[in-house]
Amino acid sequence: MTRRATARAHANIALVKYWGKRQSDLNLPANGSLSLTLDAMHTTTAVEWTTSGGIDEVALNGSRLEGRELAKIGAWLDRVRQLAGIQDRARIETVNNFPTAAGLASSASAYAALALAATAAAGLDLSPRDLSILARQGSGSAARSIFGGFVEWQRGDRPDGQDSFAEPILAPEDWDVRMLVAVLEPGPKPISSRDGMTVTTETSPMYGAWLATVEADLAAMREAVLARDLDRVGAIAEANCLKMHATMITSSPMILYWQPATVALMHRVVTLRHAGLGAYFTMDAGPNVKVLCAPGDAERLKGELLAVPGVQEVLMGKPGPGVVLL
Ligand code: PMV
Repeated sequence: MTRRATARAHANIALVKYWGKRQSDLNLPANGSLSLTLDAMHTTTAVEWTTSGGIDEVALNGSRLEGRELAKIGAWLDRVRQLAGIQDRARIETVNNFPTAAGLASSASAYAALALAATAAAGLDLSPRDLSILARQGSGSAARSIFGGFVEWQRGDRPDGQDSFAEPILAPEDWDVRMLVAVLEPGPKPISSRDGMTVTTETSPMYGAWLATVEADLAAMREAVLARDLDRVGAIAEANCLKMHATMITSSPMILYWQPATVALMHRVVTLRHAGLGAYFTMDAGPNVKVLCAPGDAERLKGELLAVPGVQEVLMGKPGPGVVLL
């Protein structure tokens, strides 16, 4: 049995968001979502199983994880141990190629890479679908990072979650677009997406409106992606993101991930659009702004975003691949 394996997975940015769970232990989403996997941002993870006892060890970018962070990964590793019928401890080394301190969501690429490396090292040969189900249990959005290009994650109905997995709908080479990530100076530490979802679903009077309309957004988005219609994809993505943030802002206590520069970037994108540039923004559980555009507009747009005060750097990504063993 192979005892060690290394895998790489890429980050993904949702165009129709996952926000809220129908069951929290298995990370079963209240709604389906659709994302774009990006080539520029990835996590590389090596896993070694050892029978020599001790505890699971995880090093992220060279620093050992402890406490709650380590416990969360340990509980997820128990699922792998159960699948493989082993009691071994894991030694994990994981590295992000993008600025971790920038507060970019890294859990999607992290759990996607971990799912493949941990199962392969344990001698398991899971299908992409089963990897998606396993990765989902670490971080919901990780279900989507198993695949490249444009990816849809099914909500599913079953209590055991076996029908809640992601599937690719358009391969990376089938539609070339650019996603720019404007990284802002880190503000106060934001509330985690897990806690944010709980507060929102329990307290926002707008959450019902989210649930009532998100599946229609998803159907329209799927159609627009398959038609490779950038303006339509962008318009739906922007509206869906604003609707998600509206549920957060109307929660109690309020969850406001935006910084002043976040709002300045939104205005900038709208102004550029009025001037004829096809650019569309989206934001997740943090202040950074991601902007979708056509490849030919990306360099100019990058310059425009960098000129907004508060923007530290702008990363540029195109459709990237699914998880692979190295
Ligand atoms: O997978 P999580 O728990 O990091 O949640 C991701 C939530 C959003 O990034 C806000 C939306 C999404 O679909 O990725």
